[in-house]
Amino acid sequence: MNNGKKNDYSSKELLILIDYRSQFYSSTLERGASLDLEQIKNGFEEKGYHVSVKQYGEVDFDGQNYKDTLVLYKSSEDPSLRYKDYIEDILLGLLYQGAILIPDFQYFRAHHNKVFMEIMRSSLKEKFGMPSAKYYGTYEEYLQNYSPASYPIVFKTAAGSKGSNVFIARSKKEADKIAKKISSTPSSFNQKLERENLIDKKGFLPISNNRGKFIVQDFVGDIPGDYKIVVYGGRYFTFYRENRLNDFRASGTLNYTFIDELPDAVLDFAKSAFTYFDVPFISIDVGYDGKQCYLFEFQFVEFGQRAVQRSNCYFQKSGDTWVRVEQKSKAEIEFVNSIHEYIQKQKGGENA
Ligand SMILES: Nc1ncnc2c1ncn2[C@@H]1O[C@H](COP(=O)(O)OP(=O)(O)O)[C@@H](O)[C@H]1O
Ligand SMILES: [Mg+2]
Repeated sequence: MNNGKKNDYSSKELLILIDYRSQFYSSTLERGASLDLEQIKNGFEEKGYHVSVKQYGEVDFDGQNYKDTLVLYKSSEDPSLRYKDYIEDILLGLLYQGAILIPDFQYFRAHHNKVFMEIMRSSLKEKFGMPSAKYYGTYEEYLQNYSPASYPIVFKTAAGSKGSNVFIARSKKEADKIAKKISSTPSSFNQKLERENLIDKKGFLPISNNRGKFIVQDFVGDIPGDYKIVVYGGRYFTFYRENRLNDFRASGTLNYTFIDELPDAVLDFAKSAFTYFDVPFISIDVGYDGKQCYLFEFQFVEFGQRAVQRSNCYFQKSGDTWVRVEQKSKAEIEFVNSIHEYIQKQKGGENA
């Protein structure tokens, strides 16, 4: 995403952006922990990169030129996504100067933003199974445009994790009630217009009081749980989550298992999703009903590292077969290796 120009990945200048708390991604090894920056920095230096680590607030657009600098960055899931919005300004500024974001900007935009995630999915040639989805910016847009072929349907707010903002509706009445509730954003602007008697036929149009964007998906039944699969380069780390008790949601459960085996169909599906996107790593939630895989969610930055840090193995495709490799892994090493591989691949592509 460099104004249509091809990126030149040959620079060895690598900028790592951290937040004001000095966090970079997250780690499950300690509560509230970041990935170990020292290890990441050393890892890249060993591979010949000149690494600088900066907080977002230290990016100097005036005094420095970031053209062709390779930039690794973190995202944020702060309430209302205010800090994420600020990060977006900095990242677009860097792109504007010709820096190269890894992964590319659209993958950042899809983070904690199911609306854009579904827009991306709708634009893909490969849809990766159902569920198909619609997305709305206001409750009014939903009322005007949405008519499902059948119920149940699943609502999700754009931001949300651990299943906390995922709801099922079994009738139109239930659906409208959920849509109204999850999009609610009461506005003092409307109250002011009303107070001052400014809403009339010639006057101001009130804005929607339901501007919290959300998506609606077809409900996929008969899925007992889902697979969380994190792919770093060619290594597939995974655990399985059973649905919560009397609930269709797996995400957010404490009942997860590190598994020794999983269906080849699920691994092949994960491989095709990973290869399809142009990214160094991916984290996906996959449902499987014994016949078909469903891609519930996909993330490219800032995803959780539990699968990598807590499992005793990973899966790797060797020829036509999936092999289980017994080994404890370090997220920092996987991170460095897959970014390096990705950069090499991009350079190879340019020379080809
Ligand atoms: N369309 C769907 N049909 C059936 N179950 C779903 C659907 N979408 C999500 N789920 C279930 O709900 C859980 C949470 O959904 P997900 O989109 O991953 O949101 P979150 O970001 O909160 O994890 C998933 O782990 C899956 O078990
Ligand atoms: Mg999920």
